[in-house]
Formats: sequence, structure tokens, C-alpha cells
Amino acid sequence: MSDLFDADRARLAARMAGVLPTATAHPARLHTAMRYACEGGKRLRALLVYGTARVLGVPLDQVDGCACAVELIHAYSLVHDDLPAMDDDDLRRGRPTVHRQYDEATAILVGDALGTLAFEVLATDARVPAARRAALVGALARASGSVGMVGGQALDLAAEGARAGSISVAALQDLHQRKTGALIAASVTLPRLVAEPPAVIAEALDRCGDALGLAYQIQDDILDVEASSDALGKTAGKDQRNGKTTYVSLLGLAGARAAADDTFAQAHRALAEVPNAAPLTAMIDLMAARQH
Ligand code: IPE
Ligand code: IPE
Ligand code: MG
Ligand code: MG
Ligand code: MG
Repeated sequence: MSDLFDADRARLAARMAGVLPTATAHPARLHTAMRYACEGGKRLRALLVYGTARVLGVPLDQVDGCACAVELIHAYSLVHDDLPAMDDDDLRRGRPTVHRQYDEATAILVGDALGTLAFEVLATDARVPAARRAALVGALARASGSVGMVGGQALDLAAEGARAGSISVAALQDLHQRKTGALIAASVTLPRLVAEPPAVIAEALDRCGDALGLAYQIQDDILDVEASSDALGKTAGKDQRNGKTTYVSLLGLAGARAAADDTFAQAHRALAEVPNAAPLTAMIDLMAARQH
């Protein structure tokens, strides 16, 4: 399976290189910074797109656009997340954050441009019938916008420095489902919108994606406490320093780990109803075992 993940990562890298403007295209500084922002990363969202496509028997070239689009939105979200007005981070994917390497205005514009490029990629993908392209654009916009990722980021910042006990686990779960869960869930929903499987399969896949998305952010909260900056490629221990409310701050490390395990188990259970689910069960295992 790990060979398959490597092959999918190489495929994604080639497709991303094709959709991003060349570094020398005018305005070159912006385009160079966009490429910088998209380098590195585990590419787990793209791997989920390809894994879901394999489960549903969709040729991978029909979901290359989906894979690029979710990684473009994700890269944009990281660039903005790291800005001084948000989490104020200097290190991302083992290198200086975009606003450190370039400047703050460039980082804002890089995020804007990567976000809009994601929708251009989906809207203009000739390998997908036009009506399905519209569904993809709608689903990704909803997952990324004010009821999804951007809304979750707003809630995350509003909760900074919150008094102990003022945020419930239910409220934090909702925040995590929005800020991180929605885009990971979309990485399963988009390929299933291309495939249009029967409703019971579609619902099971979406349940799997929802659980994976939540589990992923719980794990991110744990790794922020447990892993080193070197291993993470980003600043460890940042959540406590920024006064974030996390699964670890609410439940402790053991409680957070139990919540992550339960939520990954939910993702597995959802797949019980899905035939040929091995490519996605392998993805759940890959995500659950991550150390960075
Ligand atoms: C980090 O995401 C931020 C979250 C939404 C949890 P990843 O851990 O997937 O980051 P990369 O893409 O591998 O750098
Ligand atoms: C990231 O959450 C969520 C988004 C980027 C949408 P974090 O702020 O916890 O991510 P890291 O830890 O900086 O990667
Ligand atoms: Mg953040
Ligand atoms: Mg952050
Ligand atoms: Mg984090």
C-alpha cells in the first residue's frame, strides 16, 4: 500500500505542477510564493480523493482536479492560519512560513489566489461532465467557507484565551469539524460526487469522511503537545502558548487519545457497508498511525 501512496503523491505533485502558474509568469513574485506554499506536506487530502476514487472504480484522471483543488484550499488555509493576525507561526512544513519567507501582504494574496485557483481547476476540468463540475464547486465552496473551514477558523480565534470551562467538548467538536473536518470530509465527498454511487454508499462514505476529519484535528491537538517541532515541521507547543482550547486542554492527553481512537473507529465502522473499501481502510490506518 505504501507504494500506492507514493505513486499517488507523485501523481499529485505532477498535477499540481501543471495547474499552478509557472514561477516566472507575471506577477512572478506572487506565483513563486504560491508554488512555495504548495510544496511539502503529507498530501493526505489528495490521497483520500484517490483512495475514494479507487473504492468507487472511478478512473483517477477524473479526480485529479478534485485532488488538486482540496490541496490548494488546504495550502491556502495554512498560509492564512500562520499569519500574525491568526496563529502567528514562523515554521511550516519544515521551512519559514510564507509571510516570513516573503511578506505579509504576499501571504494574504497567495492564500486568496490559491483559493480561487481551486475553483477554477474544478470548474474547467473537461474530464468531468459539466453538471457534476457544478456540484463539485458547490460542495467545495460550502466545505471551505463560512459554515465550514473559514467559519471554524473564526470560532477557533474567538475561543483563544477562553476561561477554563467556558467551552464545552460539544462546542469544540463542532469547531474542529468545521475548521479541519469539513475539508477532509470534502476529500471523500468530491470523488463520490464524480462517481454518483447509490445513496446508501454515498451516505456511508460521507460518514467515514466526517469521522476522519474530526479525528484528524483531535490528533493534531495531541501532536502539538507530544511531538517536536523538528518532527512536525511546525512549531510544537503552540496551542498552549496561544491559549487555544483543544481536546488536550479539555480532556487531557489520555482523554484526547481516547476520543481520537473512538473517532477513527467510527470511520472504520462506516466502511462496513461499502464494498471494496480496502483503499480507504488503508487511508484510515495511515492517518491514525501518523506521528507528524
Ligand atoms: C495541518 O494539516 C493543519 C490541520 C488542518 C490539522 P496537515 O497535517 O495535513 O498538514 P500538511 O499538509 O501535511 O502540511
Ligand atoms: C488548522 O488548525 C486549521 C486550518 C488551517 C484550517 P491549526 O492551527 O491547529 O493547524 P496547525 O497546527 O497550525 O497546522
Ligand atoms: Mg489555527
Ligand atoms: Mg495553526
Ligand atoms: Mg494545530
